[in-house]
Formats: sequence, C-alpha cells, structure tokens
Amino acid sequence: MKDYVKENRKWWNAVTPIHVFSEEYDLKSFQKGKTSLQSIELKELGNVKNKTLLHLMCHFGMDTLSWAREGAIVTGVDMSDDSIKLAKKLSRENNIPAKFICSDIYELPKVLDKKYDIVFTSYGVLCWVSDIKKWAKLISNYLSDGGTFYITELHPFTNILSHDFKLFYKYFKKGPYTDDSDGTYTDWDAQVKGLTYEWSYTMADVINSLIDEGLKIEFVHEFPFSMYDQFPGFMEQNEKKQWVLKNKKIQIPLLFSLKATK
Ligand SMILES: C[S@@+](CC[C@H](N)C(=O)[O-])C[C@H]1O[C@@H](n2cnc3c(N)ncnc32)[C@H](O)[C@@H]1O
Repeated sequence: MKDYVKENRKWWNAVTPIHVFSEEYDLKSFQKGKTSLQSIELKELGNVKNKTLLHLMCHFGMDTLSWAREGAIVTGVDMSDDSIKLAKKLSRENNIPAKFICSDIYELPKVLDKKYDIVFTSYGVLCWVSDIKKWAKLISNYLSDGGTFYITELHPFTNILSHDFKLFYKYFKKGPYTDDSDGTYTDWDAQVKGLTYEWSYTMADVINSLIDEGLKIEFVHEFPFSMYDQFPGFMEQNEKKQWVLKNKKIQIPLLFSLKATK
C-alpha cells in the first residue's frame, strides 16, 4: 500500500519554509506577542488557563504557542519533522513552554500515553485525516472524562468548489485523491512541486464519528466567512478582516466549528 504519510510529509516539509515567511502566518507579529488564533476559537473554547491541551496537526506551532500564552499547558503534534523543529525553536526563542512531538497522529499512542483537558485541531486538517473513525477514537482516547474536543475548520461544503469558484467536485467523494497542483495556500506561485494524498468528509461524517465514540456534541456552528483567501479573485476582506465572497447575492458556509465533551 502507498505510504501516504511519507508522501504528504515530503510536501509539508517543502512548504514549511515558505509558510514561515508568509504574510498569512505573520510570524513577526506573533514574535511581538500577537496571537495567531482567530476570534472564533478564542471565544468558543473560552478560558484555557492551567488546562492541558493537545493540539493535533499543529504545523510549526504558532497556534499551540498562542494557546500557551493564554495559559494552557500545551503539547503540539505534527508529522512534519521540519515543522516540529521550527515549533521547538519558536518555543525556545520566545520563552513559551510547550512540548512538541513529531508523529503521524495514528502512531501517536506509541509515544504519548496521557489524558488531556482539551484536544484541539483547526483550519486545514480534515483533508489529511485518512480514517475519520480512527481519528475520532484517537481524540476520545486522549480526552479525560469531562474533557473538551474543539475543532474549527474549512466547511466540508467548500470541498465541491475549485479554487476558481466553480462547482467541480463531489460532496460525497471520499479519498484518497491526489493533488499535484503547483504552489501552496500562502503563495500559489511558489516553486514547490509535489503530490499529496487527501481525503474529504461530509459534515455528517465528522459529527457521527464523534457521536460513535460517545462524545456529546455541545454545538456545531457555520460561518459565511473564512480566515484566508480560499477562492482568489472571488473574495475580499470585510472590516473585521474576515474573507467573504465579493458577490453578495451568494452566501455559502465557509467555516464551521464544533465543540464536544467526553
Ligand atoms: C494546514 S496545516 C495545520 C493547520 C494549522 N491551523 C496551521 O495552519 O498552521 C496541516 C498540518 O497537518 C500535518 N499533518 C498532515 N497529515 C498528518 C498526519 N497524518 N499526522 C500528523 N500531522 C499531519 C501537516 O504536516 C501540517 O503541518
């Protein structure tokens, strides 16, 4: 069987140095103390002070470290070794205590055996989840009784649209499917070539996977704005710096959030 993780890791290692210097990630502001978290998760997850927080698919750790600045005791996990090296460097250089682990999420139980008050994951993660049932089980296993799972993510509905805002894909497609497009979401002209393997899930897949693990869904919210320019040329930023569709006759869900309790 194809080693999807190995192939995807190559791509993530290649784009990490591009992301770190990108406007979107805005590392300079983070280093001056600005949070990289969006107001949705800050508001909806609430007070994290002194809570243990496991961040799955943390990339190079800016959000993980931002939760630490909010008072959480954080552990970030990502399979990209270059991302984790960078996350550890940012933790050291900015004096923010954090633990970072380089691991495929499904291999994590081999190296991490602990329960957390919060399991968090966000923005651009579901498409890398190869097995949603195993993903939900993993989340449930890492939560202490009464613990909170929180996700904020690109809405699955947007999976049917191409970057140039055309109805192009099937909502019910599963995966793995391949993507060999040039560039990356912070710079579509970047000289990075690669083949990634991705998956897609419906809202029902996500919600039911968590219900099947016995988690209680507290809420699901849908938002008509995004945190990035998902459809270049078709979006603009509003006064709150949220990315919305230029065509005001159309409104579709662009993000969702979900909170569940064990
Ligand atoms: C879009 S990024 C993370 C989102 C985060 N909000 C951000 O933008 O920094 C997706 C991350 O998932 C990681 N990833 C993909 N597949 C993974 C897997 N199977 N196990 C662990 N991490 C994985 C990638 O290395 C990448 O850093």
